[in-house]
Amino acid sequence: MPLHALAPLRIGMLGLGTVGMGTYTVLQRNAEVIEARTGRRMEIAMVAVRNLARAASLVDDDVELVDDPFLVVNHPGIDVVVEVIGGTTIARDLVLQAIANGKHVVTANKALLAVHGTEIFAAAQAQGVVVAYEGAVAVSIPIIKALREGLTANHIEWIAGIINGTTNYILSEMKDKGVSFADALADAQAKGYAEADPAFDVEGVDAAHKLTLLASNAFGVPIQFDKVHVEGITQLDAADVAFAERLGYRVKLLGIARRNPQGLELRVHPTLVAAEHLLAQVHGSMNAVMVKSDAAGVTMYYGAGAGSEQTASAVIADLVDLARSSSLVQRHRVPSLAFQHHAIVELPVAAIDDVETAYYLRLDVASLSRTLPKILGHLAQADVRVQQLEVLEHPDDAQLNAVVVLTDFTQLRVLRGAIAGLEALPTVMGFVRSIRMERLV
Ligand code: HSE
Repeated sequence: MPLHALAPLRIGMLGLGTVGMGTYTVLQRNAEVIEARTGRRMEIAMVAVRNLARAASLVDDDVELVDDPFLVVNHPGIDVVVEVIGGTTIARDLVLQAIANGKHVVTANKALLAVHGTEIFAAAQAQGVVVAYEGAVAVSIPIIKALREGLTANHIEWIAGIINGTTNYILSEMKDKGVSFADALADAQAKGYAEADPAFDVEGVDAAHKLTLLASNAFGVPIQFDKVHVEGITQLDAADVAFAERLGYRVKLLGIARRNPQGLELRVHPTLVAAEHLLAQVHGSMNAVMVKSDAAGVTMYYGAGAGSEQTASAVIADLVDLARSSSLVQRHRVPSLAFQHHAIVELPVAAIDDVETAYYLRLDVASLSRTLPKILGHLAQADVRVQQLEVLEHPDDAQLNAVVVLTDFTQLRVLRGAIAGLEALPTVMGFVRSIRMERLV
């Protein structure tokens, strides 16, 4: 049969919000080029929505609109279900039902896969269907494809990514304009970058969802969101963003997954990177993922981290992959998590107390000349080596100095002991602020 005679891929979509509408629009606008690449037409046959009247004003008459999403996942004429309703409750039931009915699934729902991925991928494996999720991680960037296919020859050493657009936007605004955290967040929400619950963004949870998926693809480990150490940016002081800049560093919320001799580190936290590092050049809501692997070396992927058509681009790429591979038996397809199902094995995930990094410390100090020797004494006693020490003007209190210390590599448990000693000094005011530093080369 000639390629052009293949039956269209019949898509049932759950939701017609930002991503759903973007997917519909791009599929329509670029139908010709997508078909030329795929050899098959994509047809959005059915869409489940909450508001039928609103949806009817947005899509063509030949799209069947229903207000019960189970009608879509149970419909025998649907080949693939695109889940873009979000959340982890009803979305889980719908995805599992679609799989049970032998349908492939495309989703951009990182929370769903990070929390229920083990169950979902096992169900898909048992049914011989695909669950694809390029849009779930750094939307426009084909990072899942890069890890699963482009870097397939490599042992991966580490991945470090700016994988939340909202927080990167907030940090960029704080740095560039000196605006407060709250104002920058409101602006990011108005621009549509934030999750329905922005706490997921600013507390680092969204980045941790994405890191979970990246780590599985990079290291062949199970999906284990609960093992990611997560710190957001809500406790970050604007003064530290400014001090870091003065010292030649930039604060970024990074998701880091790293192989170490004991196992794996999985962590999301604010991080100082050198201002000239490529990750420091990623501004606003943009995302970037850097990967260090043994053969390819360092590679980096950059692009929009949020947005309607930006996410649609990834969702449609998954649909095209499916259209090309749906007739293959499971073992000839690219595995969902980059490794064959049976080859996914646990690695011990390091407790955060045991992880070693360099640190930026800031102490607000009275009586500088008396206190400095004590600070150095405490750090030496705790075996925290000092790489650099700077005394800066305190932004809010002329009676105080800000002492910034950049440390050598140290375990968090060691640093904690040192900080407790420093905070006990009567001329060190308030608590000692600490931010991890990474070199990433
Ligand atoms: N809230 C997410 C972000 C959207 O800011 O990156 C895309 O996942």
